[in-house]
Amino acid sequence: MNKKMIYTAVVLAAGKGKRMNSDVSKQFLELNGKPVLYYSLAAFEKSPVDRIILVTGEADIEYCRTEIVEKYGFRKVEQITAGGKERYHSVWNGIQAAGECDYILIHDGARAFIDQQTIKRCMEDVRTNKACVAAVPVKDTIKVVNDDLKGIKTPDRSTLWIIQTPQVFERSLIWNAYRQLAQELEKGTAPAVTDDTMVAEYYMNCSAHMVMGSYYNIKVTTPEDLVLGTAILNQPEQEL
Ligand code: CTP
Ligand code: MG
Repeated sequence: MNKKMIYTAVVLAAGKGKRMNSDVSKQFLELNGKPVLYYSLAAFEKSPVDRIILVTGEADIEYCRTEIVEKYGFRKVEQITAGGKERYHSVWNGIQAAGECDYILIHDGARAFIDQQTIKRCMEDVRTNKACVAAVPVKDTIKVVNDDLKGIKTPDRSTLWIIQTPQVFERSLIWNAYRQLAQELEKGTAPAVTDDTMVAEYYMNCSAHMVMGSYYNIKVTTPEDLVLGTAILNQPEQEL
């Protein structure tokens, strides 16, 4: 019989949400009466993932424990740990807190509308590809521009995908990648990092495989995303 593989979700909620321009951090703003973070935790609670590490601001750990995890009975949340200044600090803290497991799914807590099918596709795909990411094909034409905002290149759209989360990796691979990033951050030689697949590419020479995500899997970032988010939650066909 195949050994049971253990999957840990690291859910990130330690950002300040500056682009939302609100007093309350965006992951704690309410949609249909529940905090944004409730929806992303609920998705992993319902999924086949084995356990969840929640990463949040030091000052918000108690709030998350009582007002979200205990209130809604999220039994898979094993630890609530403090994040850091940048997203990659929070990810590294989450990976270290995850301890022993086979696979790690890194998810933006602000992507509240992640669906079960996308999570399952990623969990399946990582077993073959070691690194994979939920993503969708670009619908618009994308331009590369110069300093004067003149379009100078039009990349072939069929080669462009929008990267979402979860970003999913073999635990040892992502641990090694982030350990190297942490060392280079200390020395001041680290590259500018925007997501986890990039860290795996840069340090482990490992390309993540695209897994079909969903156009509903938006990241709550600016105020108009709250309007879109409410519409997504209120449409009956969406299995969240
Ligand atoms: N995040 C985190 N730790 C940080 C920064 C971000 O855990 N230091 C989390 C956010 O809480 C969010 C996810 O990473 O769930 C994606 O980041 P982003 O959308 O950029 O959120 P913020 O950094 O909070 O927003 P902004 O960039 O507008 O300040
Ligand atoms: Mg940010």
